Amino acid sequence: MTATVPFSIFDILDLRRQFPILHQEINGKPLAFLDSGASAQQPRQVMDCLEDYFRRYHANVHRGVYRMSEEATFAYERARGKVARFIGAASPREVIFTRNATESINLVAQSWGLANVRAGDHILLTIMEHHSNIVPWQMLAERTGAHLDYIQLDGQGRLVLEDLDHLLTEKTRIVALTQQSNVLGTVNPVQLIAQRAHAVGAVVLVDGAQSVPHMPVNVQKLDIDFLAFSGHKMCGPTGIGVLWGRQALLEQMPPFLGGGSMIDVVELDHSTYTEIPSRFEAGTPAIGEAIALGAAIDFLSEVSLEKIHHYEHELLTYALQRLSMVPDLKIHGPLTTEHRGATIAFTLTGLHPQDIAAVLDSEGIAVRAGHHCAQPLHRWLEVPATVRASLYLYNIPEEIDRLVLALDKARRMLG
Ligand code: ALA
Repeated sequence: MTATVPFSIFDILDLRRQFPILHQEINGKPLAFLDSGASAQQPRQVMDCLEDYFRRYHANVHRGVYRMSEEATFAYERARGKVARFIGAASPREVIFTRNATESINLVAQSWGLANVRAGDHILLTIMEHHSNIVPWQMLAERTGAHLDYIQLDGQGRLVLEDLDHLLTEKTRIVALTQQSNVLGTVNPVQLIAQRAHAVGAVVLVDGAQSVPHMPVNVQKLDIDFLAFSGHKMCGPTGIGVLWGRQALLEQMPPFLGGGSMIDVVELDHSTYTEIPSRFEAGTPAIGEAIALGAAIDFLSEVSLEKIHHYEHELLTYALQRLSMVPDLKIHGPLTTEHRGATIAFTLTGLHPQDIAAVLDSEGIAVRAGHHCAQPLHRWLEVPATVRASLYLYNIPEEIDRLVLALDKARRMLG
Protein backbone atom coordinates (compact mmCIF):
# COMPACT_ATOMS: atom_id res chain seq x y z
CA MET A 1 0.00 0.00 0.00
CA THR A 2 1.26 3.46 -0.72
CA ALA A 3 0.76 6.52 1.40
CA THR A 4 -2.37 8.50 0.56
CA VAL A 5 -2.04 11.40 2.95
CA PRO A 6 -2.54 14.69 1.10
CA PHE A 7 0.64 16.65 1.61
CA SER A 8 -1.04 19.67 0.10
CA ILE A 9 -2.79 20.44 3.43
CA PHE A 10 0.44 22.15 4.35
CA ASP A 11 4.00 21.89 3.14
CA ILE A 12 4.93 19.05 5.45
CA LEU A 13 8.60 19.03 4.49
CA ASP A 14 8.92 22.72 5.18
CA LEU A 15 7.05 22.21 8.45
CA ARG A 16 9.36 19.36 9.47
CA ARG A 17 12.39 21.55 8.78
CA GLN A 18 11.19 23.81 11.57
CA PHE A 19 11.72 21.00 14.10
CA PRO A 20 15.52 20.56 14.36
CA ILE A 21 15.28 17.50 16.61
CA LEU A 22 13.53 15.43 13.95
CA HIS A 23 16.57 15.50 11.68
CA GLN A 24 18.85 13.07 13.42
CA GLU A 25 19.69 9.40 13.43
CA ILE A 26 18.94 7.11 16.36
CA ASN A 27 20.72 3.77 16.33
CA GLY A 28 21.89 4.55 12.81
CA LYS A 29 18.32 5.10 11.51
CA PRO A 30 16.42 8.32 10.88
CA LEU A 31 14.37 9.23 13.91
CA ALA A 32 10.63 8.53 13.63
CA PHE A 33 9.18 10.28 16.65
CA LEU A 34 5.82 8.67 17.45
CA ASP A 35 5.52 9.69 21.11
CA SER A 36 4.05 13.18 20.96
CA GLY A 37 1.26 12.11 23.31
CA ALA A 38 3.91 12.01 26.04
CA SER A 39 5.73 15.17 24.99
CA ALA A 40 5.70 16.90 21.62
CA GLN A 41 8.72 18.41 19.91
CA GLN A 42 9.35 22.13 19.63
CA PRO A 43 9.74 24.21 16.48
CA ARG A 44 12.67 26.57 16.21
CA GLN A 45 10.53 29.65 16.90
CA VAL A 46 9.58 28.33 20.34
CA MET A 47 13.20 27.58 21.21
CA ASP A 48 14.25 31.00 19.89
CA CYS A 49 11.57 32.69 21.98
CA LEU A 50 12.78 31.00 25.17
CA GLU A 51 16.41 31.77 24.36
CA ASP A 52 15.56 35.40 23.60
CA TYR A 53 13.91 35.69 27.01
CA PHE A 54 16.92 34.25 28.85
CA ARG A 55 19.46 36.21 26.82
CA ARG A 56 17.73 39.56 26.84
CA TYR A 57 15.07 40.16 29.47
CA HIS A 58 15.08 37.42 32.11
CA ALA A 59 13.69 39.12 35.23
CA ASN A 60 10.90 38.51 37.68
CA VAL A 61 7.37 39.57 36.80
CA HIS A 62 4.93 41.89 38.58
CA ARG A 63 7.67 43.12 40.90
CA GLY A 64 10.47 45.23 39.46
CA VAL A 65 10.15 48.84 38.38
CA TYR A 66 12.87 48.49 35.79
CA ARG A 67 12.86 47.92 32.06
CA MET A 68 13.65 44.18 31.95
CA SER A 69 11.07 43.29 34.57
CA GLU A 70 8.49 45.38 32.76
CA GLU A 71 9.27 43.66 29.48
CA ALA A 72 9.05 40.23 31.15
CA THR A 73 5.74 41.17 32.78
CA PHE A 74 4.36 42.45 29.49
CA ALA A 75 5.39 39.29 27.61
CA TYR A 76 4.07 37.01 30.38
CA GLU A 77 0.69 38.73 30.40
CA ARG A 78 0.60 38.83 26.61
CA ALA A 79 1.09 35.03 26.65
CA ARG A 80 -1.92 34.77 28.98
CA GLY A 81 -3.93 36.72 26.42
CA LYS A 82 -2.80 34.36 23.65
CA VAL A 83 -3.93 31.34 25.68
CA ALA A 84 -7.29 33.00 26.34
CA ARG A 85 -7.90 33.68 22.64
CA PHE A 86 -6.68 30.20 21.67
CA ILE A 87 -9.34 28.45 23.78
CA GLY A 88 -12.08 31.06 23.41
CA ALA A 89 -11.99 32.22 27.04
CA ALA A 90 -14.18 35.20 27.93
CA SER A 91 -11.20 36.99 29.50
CA PRO A 92 -7.45 36.47 30.16
CA ARG A 93 -8.34 36.64 33.87
CA GLU A 94 -9.80 33.16 33.46
CA VAL A 95 -6.38 31.75 32.51
CA ILE A 96 -4.13 30.53 35.31
CA PHE A 97 -0.59 29.40 34.61
CA THR A 98 0.33 26.18 36.39
CA ARG A 99 3.13 23.66 35.93
CA ASN A 100 1.08 21.19 33.88
CA ALA A 101 -2.39 19.69 33.43
CA THR A 102 -1.85 17.55 36.53
CA GLU A 103 -1.33 20.61 38.71
CA SER A 104 -4.34 22.30 37.11
CA ILE A 105 -6.59 19.37 38.03
CA ASN A 106 -5.15 19.21 41.56
CA LEU A 107 -5.83 22.92 41.93
CA VAL A 108 -9.52 22.42 41.16
CA ALA A 109 -9.80 19.28 43.31
CA GLN A 110 -8.20 21.00 46.30
CA SER A 111 -9.61 24.49 45.98
CA TRP A 112 -13.04 24.11 44.39
CA GLY A 113 -13.39 20.56 45.69
CA LEU A 114 -12.77 21.20 49.38
CA ALA A 115 -15.08 24.20 49.28
CA ASN A 116 -17.93 22.47 47.44
CA VAL A 117 -17.84 18.71 47.96
CA ARG A 118 -19.33 17.16 51.11
CA ALA A 119 -19.78 13.65 52.51
CA GLY A 120 -22.26 11.71 50.39
CA ASP A 121 -21.69 13.83 47.27
CA HIS A 122 -20.68 12.11 44.06
CA ILE A 123 -17.79 12.77 41.69
CA LEU A 124 -18.21 11.32 38.20
CA LEU A 125 -15.15 10.19 36.20
CA THR A 126 -14.62 7.75 33.32
CA ILE A 127 -12.51 4.62 33.41
CA MET A 128 -10.39 5.89 30.51
CA GLU A 129 -8.90 8.71 32.63
CA HIS A 130 -5.21 9.34 33.05
CA HIS A 131 -4.12 8.95 36.70
CA SER A 132 -3.92 12.75 36.90
CA ASN A 133 -7.69 12.89 36.52
CA ILE A 134 -8.34 10.06 38.99
CA VAL A 135 -5.94 10.38 41.92
CA PRO A 136 -6.72 14.04 42.81
CA TRP A 137 -10.43 13.10 43.03
CA GLN A 138 -9.63 10.04 45.14
CA MET A 139 -7.67 12.30 47.50
CA LEU A 140 -10.65 14.68 47.65
CA ALA A 141 -13.07 11.79 48.23
CA GLU A 142 -10.89 10.51 51.09
CA ARG A 143 -10.92 13.91 52.76
CA THR A 144 -14.60 14.65 52.27
CA GLY A 145 -16.36 11.29 52.30
CA ALA A 146 -17.57 11.76 48.71
CA HIS A 147 -18.16 8.80 46.35
CA LEU A 148 -16.47 8.20 43.02
CA ASP A 149 -18.52 6.92 40.08
CA TYR A 150 -17.18 5.90 36.69
CA ILE A 151 -18.69 5.93 33.22
CA GLN A 152 -17.88 2.58 31.60
CA LEU A 153 -16.70 1.87 28.05
CA ASP A 154 -18.11 -0.21 25.23
CA GLY A 155 -16.10 -2.76 23.23
CA GLN A 156 -14.68 0.00 20.98
CA GLY A 157 -13.43 2.07 23.91
CA ARG A 158 -16.19 4.66 23.73
CA LEU A 159 -18.13 5.97 26.74
CA VAL A 160 -21.41 4.21 27.46
CA LEU A 161 -23.55 7.32 27.50
CA GLU A 162 -26.64 5.43 28.67
CA ASP A 163 -24.82 5.19 32.02
CA LEU A 164 -25.40 8.91 32.45
CA ASP A 165 -29.09 8.22 33.09
CA HIS A 166 -28.33 6.66 36.46
CA LEU A 167 -24.88 8.12 37.20
CA LEU A 168 -25.86 11.76 36.94
CA THR A 169 -28.01 12.72 39.93
CA GLU A 170 -28.53 15.78 42.09
CA LYS A 171 -25.73 14.37 44.28
CA THR A 172 -23.19 14.69 41.44
CA ARG A 173 -21.05 17.74 42.21
CA ILE A 174 -18.51 17.46 39.39
CA VAL A 175 -17.94 15.49 36.21
CA ALA A 176 -14.24 15.28 35.32
CA LEU A 177 -13.34 13.66 32.02
CA THR A 178 -10.78 13.68 29.29
CA GLN A 179 -11.65 15.12 25.92
CA GLN A 180 -9.34 12.65 24.19
CA SER A 181 -8.02 9.46 25.74
CA ASN A 182 -4.22 9.36 25.97
CA VAL A 183 -4.37 5.62 25.23
CA LEU A 184 -7.40 4.79 23.09
CA GLY A 185 -7.52 8.03 21.17
CA THR A 186 -11.28 8.18 21.78
CA VAL A 187 -12.68 11.71 21.55
CA ASN A 188 -15.52 12.12 24.01
CA PRO A 189 -18.73 14.11 23.40
CA VAL A 190 -17.82 16.74 25.97
CA GLN A 191 -20.48 19.25 24.94
CA LEU A 192 -23.27 16.72 25.34
CA ILE A 193 -21.94 15.47 28.68
CA ALA A 194 -21.58 19.06 29.92
CA GLN A 195 -25.22 19.74 29.05
CA ARG A 196 -26.34 16.66 30.94
CA ALA A 197 -24.10 17.49 33.92
CA HIS A 198 -25.31 21.07 34.12
CA ALA A 199 -28.91 19.86 34.07
CA VAL A 200 -28.31 18.23 37.48
CA GLY A 201 -26.27 21.16 38.78
CA ALA A 202 -22.82 19.56 38.44
CA VAL A 203 -19.78 21.42 37.13
CA VAL A 204 -17.59 19.98 34.38
CA LEU A 205 -13.81 19.76 34.28
CA VAL A 206 -12.20 18.68 31.02
CA ASP A 207 -8.70 17.24 30.80
CA GLY A 208 -7.59 18.74 27.50
CA ALA A 209 -3.98 17.57 27.64
CA GLN A 210 -4.46 15.35 24.58
CA SER A 211 -7.06 17.42 22.74
CA VAL A 212 -6.00 21.08 22.94
CA PRO A 213 -2.78 20.40 20.94
CA HIS A 214 -4.67 18.59 18.18
CA MET A 215 -8.04 20.20 17.49
CA PRO A 216 -9.76 23.55 17.89
CA VAL A 217 -11.10 23.69 21.46
CA ASN A 218 -13.44 26.50 22.48
CA VAL A 219 -14.46 26.50 26.13
CA GLN A 220 -17.54 28.61 25.50
CA LYS A 221 -18.82 26.39 22.69
CA LEU A 222 -18.20 23.30 24.79
CA ASP A 223 -19.95 25.08 27.67
CA ILE A 224 -17.64 23.56 30.27
CA ASP A 225 -16.43 25.01 33.59
CA PHE A 226 -12.74 24.07 33.82
CA LEU A 227 -10.15 23.05 31.23
CA ALA A 228 -6.68 21.72 32.07
CA PHE A 229 -3.79 21.29 29.62
CA SER A 230 0.00 21.23 29.38
CA GLY A 231 2.42 23.27 27.28
CA HIS A 232 4.83 20.46 26.45
CA LYS A 233 2.28 18.44 24.50
CA MET A 234 1.54 21.37 22.18
CA CYS A 235 5.04 22.27 20.97
CA GLY A 236 5.77 24.37 24.06
CA PRO A 237 8.19 23.82 26.95
CA THR A 238 7.79 21.57 29.97
CA GLY A 239 7.00 23.17 33.33
CA ILE A 240 4.11 25.26 32.05
CA GLY A 241 0.45 24.31 32.04
CA VAL A 242 -2.90 26.02 32.04
CA LEU A 243 -6.04 25.95 34.09
CA TRP A 244 -8.92 27.78 32.50
CA GLY A 245 -11.96 28.30 34.70
CA ARG A 246 -15.15 30.30 34.46
CA GLN A 247 -14.57 33.66 36.11
CA ALA A 248 -17.57 33.31 38.43
CA LEU A 249 -16.26 29.98 39.74
CA LEU A 250 -12.63 31.04 40.06
CA GLU A 251 -13.61 34.19 41.94
CA GLN A 252 -15.33 32.13 44.62
CA MET A 253 -12.51 29.62 45.02
CA PRO A 254 -10.03 29.82 47.92
CA PRO A 255 -6.31 29.86 47.10
CA PHE A 256 -4.52 26.61 46.35
CA LEU A 257 -0.94 27.55 47.31
CA GLY A 258 0.00 30.40 49.63
CA GLY A 259 2.94 32.77 49.22
CA GLY A 260 4.07 35.82 47.31
CA SER A 261 1.99 37.29 44.46
CA MET A 262 -1.29 35.84 45.65
CA ILE A 263 -1.84 38.18 48.60
CA ASP A 264 -3.33 41.57 49.12
CA VAL A 265 -2.38 42.29 52.77
CA VAL A 266 -0.37 40.00 55.06
CA GLU A 267 -0.69 40.47 58.82
CA LEU A 268 1.01 38.27 61.40
CA ASP A 269 -2.13 36.25 62.05
CA HIS A 270 -3.97 36.36 58.75
CA SER A 271 -3.83 37.51 55.14
CA THR A 272 -6.19 38.69 52.46
CA TYR A 273 -5.87 37.46 48.92
CA THR A 274 -5.60 39.18 45.61
CA GLU A 275 -7.88 38.87 42.59
CA ILE A 276 -7.78 36.12 39.98
CA PRO A 277 -5.64 35.03 38.22
CA SER A 278 -2.77 35.99 40.58
CA ARG A 279 -4.61 34.46 43.55
CA PHE A 280 -3.72 31.10 42.03
CA GLU A 281 -0.16 31.91 40.98
CA ALA A 282 1.77 31.91 44.25
CA GLY A 283 5.54 32.33 43.95
CA THR A 284 7.63 33.09 40.92
CA PRO A 285 6.01 31.45 37.90
CA ALA A 286 7.68 29.75 34.93
CA ILE A 287 8.05 33.06 33.12
CA GLY A 288 10.08 32.15 30.05
CA GLU A 289 8.10 28.93 29.65
CA ALA A 290 4.79 30.80 29.69
CA ILE A 291 6.10 33.25 27.10
CA ALA A 292 7.34 30.34 24.97
CA LEU A 293 3.94 28.66 25.31
CA GLY A 294 2.59 31.83 23.73
CA ALA A 295 5.06 31.29 20.87
CA ALA A 296 3.86 27.69 20.51
CA ILE A 297 0.29 28.95 20.29
CA ASP A 298 1.35 31.43 17.59
CA PHE A 299 2.99 28.56 15.71
CA LEU A 300 -0.02 26.23 15.95
CA SER A 301 -2.40 29.03 15.01
CA GLU A 302 -0.28 29.99 11.98
CA VAL A 303 -0.34 26.37 10.77
CA SER A 304 -4.06 26.26 11.77
CA LEU A 305 -5.61 23.85 14.24
CA GLU A 306 -8.25 22.90 11.66
CA LYS A 307 -5.52 21.85 9.23
CA ILE A 308 -3.57 20.02 11.91
CA HIS A 309 -6.70 18.14 12.93
CA HIS A 310 -7.49 17.27 9.32
CA TYR A 311 -3.94 16.16 8.56
CA GLU A 312 -3.79 13.97 11.66
CA HIS A 313 -7.11 12.44 10.69
CA GLU A 314 -5.63 11.44 7.32
CA LEU A 315 -2.52 10.04 9.02
CA LEU A 316 -4.73 8.13 11.45
CA THR A 317 -6.78 6.62 8.62
CA TYR A 318 -3.60 5.43 6.95
CA ALA A 319 -2.10 4.12 10.20
CA LEU A 320 -5.24 2.17 11.14
CA GLN A 321 -5.32 0.58 7.66
CA ARG A 322 -1.66 -0.38 7.77
CA LEU A 323 -1.66 -1.64 11.36
CA SER A 324 -4.83 -3.67 10.89
CA MET A 325 -2.90 -5.78 8.36
CA VAL A 326 -0.14 -6.72 10.81
CA PRO A 327 -0.75 -10.34 11.92
CA ASP A 328 -1.55 -10.85 15.63
CA LEU A 329 -1.84 -7.10 16.22
CA LYS A 330 -4.76 -5.85 18.27
CA ILE A 331 -5.64 -2.17 18.34
CA HIS A 332 -7.13 -1.10 21.67
CA GLY A 333 -9.58 1.67 20.95
CA PRO A 334 -11.97 2.68 18.20
CA LEU A 335 -11.24 1.05 14.84
CA THR A 336 -13.11 3.78 13.01
CA THR A 337 -11.73 7.27 12.59
CA GLU A 338 -14.84 9.17 13.70
CA HIS A 339 -14.41 11.00 17.00
CA ARG A 340 -10.95 9.61 17.39
CA GLY A 341 -7.51 11.16 17.56
CA ALA A 342 -4.24 9.87 16.14
CA THR A 343 -3.15 8.00 19.25
CA ILE A 344 -3.01 4.26 18.66
CA ALA A 345 -2.43 1.73 21.42
CA PHE A 346 -1.84 -1.87 20.42
CA THR A 347 -0.53 -5.23 21.52
CA LEU A 348 0.98 -8.13 19.58
CA THR A 349 -0.12 -11.53 20.82
CA GLY A 350 2.52 -13.15 23.00
CA LEU A 351 4.98 -10.24 22.88
CA HIS A 352 5.74 -7.87 25.72
CA PRO A 353 5.14 -4.19 24.87
CA GLN A 354 8.51 -3.18 26.39
CA ASP A 355 10.32 -5.68 24.15
CA ILE A 356 8.44 -4.42 21.10
CA ALA A 357 9.35 -0.82 21.98
CA ALA A 358 13.01 -1.84 22.32
CA VAL A 359 12.99 -3.39 18.83
CA LEU A 360 11.29 -0.27 17.45
CA ASP A 361 13.95 1.87 19.13
CA SER A 362 16.66 -0.16 17.40
CA GLU A 363 14.98 0.98 14.16
CA GLY A 364 14.98 4.64 15.26
CA ILE A 365 11.26 4.61 16.10
CA ALA A 366 10.23 6.23 19.40
CA VAL A 367 6.98 4.97 20.94
CA ARG A 368 5.76 4.63 24.52
CA ALA A 369 5.15 1.22 26.11
CA GLY A 370 3.50 0.58 29.46
CA HIS A 371 0.23 1.50 31.12
CA HIS A 372 0.51 5.16 30.07
CA CYS A 373 -0.60 6.36 33.51
CA ALA A 374 -3.96 4.66 32.95
CA GLN A 375 -3.93 1.49 35.07
CA PRO A 376 -7.73 1.25 35.53
CA LEU A 377 -8.14 1.47 31.76
CA HIS A 378 -5.56 -1.27 31.16
CA ARG A 379 -7.30 -3.44 33.74
CA TRP A 380 -10.47 -2.94 31.74
CA LEU A 381 -8.58 -3.80 28.53
CA GLU A 382 -7.32 -6.91 30.34
CA VAL A 383 -3.71 -6.25 29.37
CA PRO A 384 -0.97 -5.03 31.71
CA ALA A 385 0.52 -2.76 29.08
CA THR A 386 0.25 -1.59 25.48
CA VAL A 387 2.52 -0.05 22.88
CA ARG A 388 1.38 3.44 21.94
CA ALA A 389 2.13 5.38 18.77
CA SER A 390 0.90 8.96 19.08
CA LEU A 391 1.11 11.14 16.00
CA TYR A 392 1.38 14.87 15.52
CA LEU A 393 1.50 17.44 12.76
CA TYR A 394 5.12 16.67 11.83
CA ASN A 395 4.69 12.93 11.30
CA ILE A 396 4.61 11.51 7.79
CA PRO A 397 3.12 8.33 6.27
CA GLU A 398 6.59 6.91 5.64
CA GLU A 399 7.07 6.74 9.40
CA ILE A 400 3.96 4.59 9.66
CA ASP A 401 5.35 2.34 6.91
CA ARG A 402 8.56 2.03 8.92
CA LEU A 403 6.58 1.24 12.07
CA VAL A 404 4.80 -1.60 10.28
CA LEU A 405 8.08 -3.01 8.93
CA ALA A 406 9.67 -2.78 12.37
CA LEU A 407 6.71 -4.59 13.92
CA ASP A 408 7.30 -7.44 11.44
CA LYS A 409 10.89 -7.49 12.63
CA ALA A 410 9.74 -7.58 16.26
CA ARG A 411 7.49 -10.53 15.49
CA ARG A 412 10.35 -12.40 13.83
CA MET A 413 12.85 -11.59 16.57
CA LEU A 414 10.63 -12.07 19.62
CA GLY A 415 7.94 -14.44 18.43
N1 ALA B 1 0.46 11.99 30.00
C1 ALA B 1 1.53 11.64 29.13
C2 ALA B 1 1.23 10.40 28.31
O1 ALA B 1 0.11 10.01 28.15
C3 ALA B 1 2.82 11.57 29.82
O2 ALA B 1 2.16 9.83 27.80
